[in-house]
Amino acid sequence: MTNTTASEPIADRLDESLAIVILAAGQGTRMRSALPKVLHRIGGRPLVGHVLDTARDLAPGHVVVVVRHERDQVAEAVTGISDRVVVVDQDEVPGTGRAVEVALAALPGSDGRGFDGDVLVLSGDVPLLDADTLISLVRDHRASHAAITLLSAIVDDPSGYGRVIRGVDGAVERIVEQKDASAAEAAVTEINAGVYVFQGAPLRAYLARVGTDNAQGEKYLTDVVGLARSEGLPVAASVVTDVSLTLGVNDRAQLAEAGRLLNARTVRRWQLAGATIQDPATTWIDVTAELAPDVTVLPNSHILRATVVGSGAIIGPDTTLEDCEVGEGATVRRTDATLAVIGAGANVGPFAYLRPGTVLAAKGKIGTFVETKNSTIGEGSKVPHLSYIGDTTIGRGVNLGAGAITANYDDIAKHRTEIGDEVHSGSHNVFVAPVRIGDGAKTGAGAVIRKDVPAGALALSVAPQRNVEGWVENHRPGTAAADAAARARSAQEAVDGQEEA
Ligand code: UD1
Ligand code: CA
Repeated sequence: MTNTTASEPIADRLDESLAIVILAAGQGTRMRSALPKVLHRIGGRPLVGHVLDTARDLAPGHVVVVVRHERDQVAEAVTGISDRVVVVDQDEVPGTGRAVEVALAALPGSDGRGFDGDVLVLSGDVPLLDADTLISLVRDHRASHAAITLLSAIVDDPSGYGRVIRGVDGAVERIVEQKDASAAEAAVTEINAGVYVFQGAPLRAYLARVGTDNAQGEKYLTDVVGLARSEGLPVAASVVTDVSLTLGVNDRAQLAEAGRLLNARTVRRWQLAGATIQDPATTWIDVTAELAPDVTVLPNSHILRATVVGSGAIIGPDTTLEDCEVGEGATVRRTDATLAVIGAGANVGPFAYLRPGTVLAAKGKIGTFVETKNSTIGEGSKVPHLSYIGDTTIGRGVNLGAGAITANYDDIAKHRTEIGDEVHSGSHNVFVAPVRIGDGAKTGAGAVIRKDVPAGALALSVAPQRNVEGWVENHRPGTAAADAAARARSAQEAVDGQEEA
């Protein structure tokens, strides 16, 4: 039903008598944004990207996207998403009617006449419509032989939308925009979703007659409805019951609402596919992410972009994964990871930061307060606590003690650290790259490793410990530390005196 990521067309052949026109030329003033409205994102994809995806599912013979405001940015985004679209520029005449008019001129016609198939008009800012709703709309339109079939919805708050005005017989008479509506018209709660199927020929004929004499000085597509009806052509309306499908994004509040509704749909899709998602309200999954069956997602988790999670993995709570690959049965808690690969059965977090190029092999561990970047950590190897591992290759069965730091940058260039198999490092080591630690080697606590360590060697770099007796009392007299030292000294002297007696 809500198959928003289907990649196969529903029909096996393109329907040459169906053209889809996507309107994306408007400025989107109410967004108050430097970014064109249709490029604002929900579910990890621009609004117009969702519309293009849905359009593709109908296998139309032609897809035209109309651009004007920030045309280069919008055109580039659109052609990047689908290589089948034709981008058409709207001229200086404003309004949805003009946008459709220029789109029609770009469609192929027969015998010098224009396109005479069906024209499905979609808005680049109505992102949640699903393909099934549109397929029914086109089928109904073709079955009824109406000149126009529009999609409407009954909503609690119709503000901002065009109202569907019906005659006494209940038939659609016209659409009136909010800014042009009388008080009685504004009270109507059936709204125009901005989605319609038109027969090509009458659409072209009536658009030529639509003017700009209205509150916004625009050529309204919606005026075609009234013109067609005044000449006795049949206009049908299909009322959707799920009003979320028709939500138009005009401002940031509606953007957030559309994002929430889309996310709820995505979460439900993965739940029905076998993922346990404990708290849908705080789990955000991009439409491009994939979860295998028996994945568990705990609250406050963001699974973004091309992230793929293998079966049985546990993600969260409080975890963000962007473009990551998580293997089967891995656990990733309170972690932020980007462009990282986490192997099967591996354990990450809590409080880990995996930057691009991190590859953690099967059964490995990246533990608490650990940052990694551009590093490979071999099978079963562990970086459990308080570490920075950058530009490093670590073999199998390695354990780095707490506080391992790779000093990978010497102010001029980045260098690599190479650690072999079965290496165990002491706590609080600095590996000054470029440096290699051979297989099975060990390092002492606090070592600063500046030279390569041969396989099987023990590397010690810290000078032997020397205790300077009485230093605190001599050099810090009068401090609390000196007082404590003095008390300890007299207690010890008393013990020593008794032992001598
Ligand atoms: C439009 C409809 C309204 C409907 C609502 C549904 C008209 C006149 N009104 O109003 O009846 O209830 O959608 O969401 O059609 N666009 C262009 N060129 C333009 C102007 C707009 O391509 O010159 C594009 C916009 O980029 C947008 C879409 O058309 O994707 C709708 O434009 P918008 O200004 O948002 O229309 P609404 O006021 O929402
Ligand atoms: Ca709109």
